[in-house]
Amino acid sequence: MKKDTPSVSVIGMGYVGLCTAATFASRGIPTIGIDIDETRIAQIRKGQAPIHEPQLDQMLNKAVKRKLLDATNDISRAADADTSFLTVGTPSQPDGSIDLSFVKKATEDLGTALQSKQGYHLVVVKSTVIPGTTNNTVKPVLEQSSGKNVGPGLGLCANPEFLKEGTAINDALHPDKIVIGSNDKKSADQLTRLYRKFYRSRLPPIIATSPETAELVKYSSNAFLATKVSFINTIANIAQQIPGVDVNRIAEAIGHDPRIGPLFLKAGPGYGGSCFHKDLQALIRFSRQYGYDPVLLLSSEEANEEQANRVVALSKKLVGSLEAKRIAVLGLAFKKDTDDIREAASVRVIHLLRAKGAKVVAYDPMAMPNFENLFGNIIELAKSPQSALKGAECAIVMTEWDEFKKLKAKDYLAYMSEPNVIDARRIYRPEQYRELNLLGIGLGYFSGK
Ligand code: UGA
Repeated sequence: MKKDTPSVSVIGMGYVGLCTAATFASRGIPTIGIDIDETRIAQIRKGQAPIHEPQLDQMLNKAVKRKLLDATNDISRAADADTSFLTVGTPSQPDGSIDLSFVKKATEDLGTALQSKQGYHLVVVKSTVIPGTTNNTVKPVLEQSSGKNVGPGLGLCANPEFLKEGTAINDALHPDKIVIGSNDKKSADQLTRLYRKFYRSRLPPIIATSPETAELVKYSSNAFLATKVSFINTIANIAQQIPGVDVNRIAEAIGHDPRIGPLFLKAGPGYGGSCFHKDLQALIRFSRQYGYDPVLLLSSEEANEEQANRVVALSKKLVGSLEAKRIAVLGLAFKKDTDDIREAASVRVIHLLRAKGAKVVAYDPMAMPNFENLFGNIIELAKSPQSALKGAECAIVMTEWDEFKKLKAKDYLAYMSEPNVIDARRIYRPEQYRELNLLGIGLGYFSGK
């Protein structure tokens, strides 16, 4: 690699690592992606994205063709670059704490690769890790495996990511800030230089902190966002009791207050995805180790779990007992434009419906294979929204897919045995669906009989 341009290696080609590597390469920075999964590496080398993420495929393809991105399972190649990002997973353990085994193994292998390297190398922890991990876990493992001390010859920073699934590329290209947690100026300066090269005149604000602060920024961000969702869902459940009240109007009104802000105030069936629940549980567990019970965070999680019951309660309101009733679930993904069903509200709702004896049939434009892989054939999966609705006594919209927004009242009427519809994502304007028995989360309004 050319000496005058910065170069990076990214260890862990999961969704964060891949998007990070693809965006660095797209900005002309030579990048090596590293993973132990050979199939994944083979796919990346062909310029194909092994996960579904808008823009990623094109970006990888272009970067591979321009020879700016290479992928390998040989971690010794990490030393060829001047900065290595650790982007391996930190999955949840049964007690809520995070499993650091991938972080430790990747650090150890990277350290070994750095043993014979001449010159400065910077290691950057991008994986989501609890405060103290960079200095108390990564640093000793790195020092031992490399035979070098972190300091003038070997840099170490924490640099969390804030990418959202479905908009990860755009988020990586236009972040609202960059958080750099470092112990010394040299490492922070190298990372800042790299981002300066990446963003040029559009460098976002850089927040320089200690590694521990940077690590906690990531958890605080997700804890706040999850709490915002649980807050608006709480207001939605209150609003629903009052005729003529609509939580969407409340969100619109309070969102004008700059202290509150308009985003993340969409009431729904509860948050899902691989991050919020996992990160809140890890933060709760971490906090308890210090003897502090973070009741607010516990409540955010409890309110989120409870929201699935609210959705089922709405369907019971329309059809009475759910025993042997055919219920169509529209949407399995935890949000639209992804095939990800991890911690999805749909899964909680489906389990509750089945426990009440309902016969569930579901449709999702992308997430059905993932659902089947995880749960087998516990429910019927339909080939289209129409065939899911066929003969159903109640339909529940669980994901805000555009495909479902296009369904008109007549579509529901044409296929369902009873036009009972729960809009758990509030994608419909009730006045346009008057022919249906429509109930919505946070909608104190009933359009039907
Ligand atoms: C989240 C954060 O938004 C990212 O900043 C963070 O980097 C990422 O976690 C992570 O830690 O990796 P993501 O899980 O992709 O991103 O999804 P979000 O778009 O944040 O949505 C999370 C859940 O909240 C979804 O189920 C969504 O439907 C729900 N949500 C979101 C609402 O119910 N209402 C809202 O107003 C917003």
